[in-house]
Amino acid sequence: MKLLVLLGSPRKGGNSETLARKVAEAVEQGGGTVEYRRLNDLNIRPCQGCGGCEKTGNCVIKDDMTDIYQAADEADRILLVSPVYFYALSAQCKICGDRFQARWSRKYLLQERFRQGEGRKGYLLSTSATKGPKIFDCSILTVRYIFDAMDVKYGGEFLVKGVDKRKAVLGLPDEMAKAEQFGKDMVAGKA
Ligand SMILES: Cc1cc2nc3c(=O)[nH]c(=O)nc-3n(C[C@H](O)[C@H](O)[C@H](O)COP(=O)(O)O)c2cc1C
Repeated sequence: MKLLVLLGSPRKGGNSETLARKVAEAVEQGGGTVEYRRLNDLNIRPCQGCGGCEKTGNCVIKDDMTDIYQAADEADRILLVSPVYFYALSAQCKICGDRFQARWSRKYLLQERFRQGEGRKGYLLSTSATKGPKIFDCSILTVRYIFDAMDVKYGGEFLVKGVDKRKAVLGLPDEMAKAEQFGKDMVAGKA
């Protein structure tokens, strides 16, 4: 099982990354392989809404998304990792997600399905400083839709509220243990 981890926080070693690495470690210990991409380090232009992909299924922009499309196509599981920024995904995640409009065009306009029946899954991992009941709602909705465009089933989310300072999650051993379990479940096909 090949897991692609898309790190969407600009903060290296922050809360979302710390949890994501715990999940990924468990996947590796369970026999899976893990690849990381740190979105903030990549040159990814926002979707221009040009409609070019409607004819070809491919994005006209040639930048670091070329590698992300390929890595996502090869992955069996994809973990999108984002802090909550203003009740939504980080801009890094949103820009990357919008570029999957090219896959939406393939699926819905060109009727091209991808790796059907292979049980590929995508997940959201997110952290927030506050604890409002709706704090992750916007991110979940957006991510579900991104994975649908990618022809990847939504496998659920791993969410931790109330962590703000970098590595604050390390002070929450229960959440770290849950992240490890999330990875174990993922590689065992239970999540
Ligand atoms: C630009 C920005 C916007 C943020 N917006 C919110 C928000 O709307 N709600 C919230 O609870 N936390 C918000 N936060 C706090 C982060 O979600 C929180 O610190 C998170 O754990 C950071 O994860 P990271 O360490 O992986 O970057 C914001 C932080 C930044 C820098």
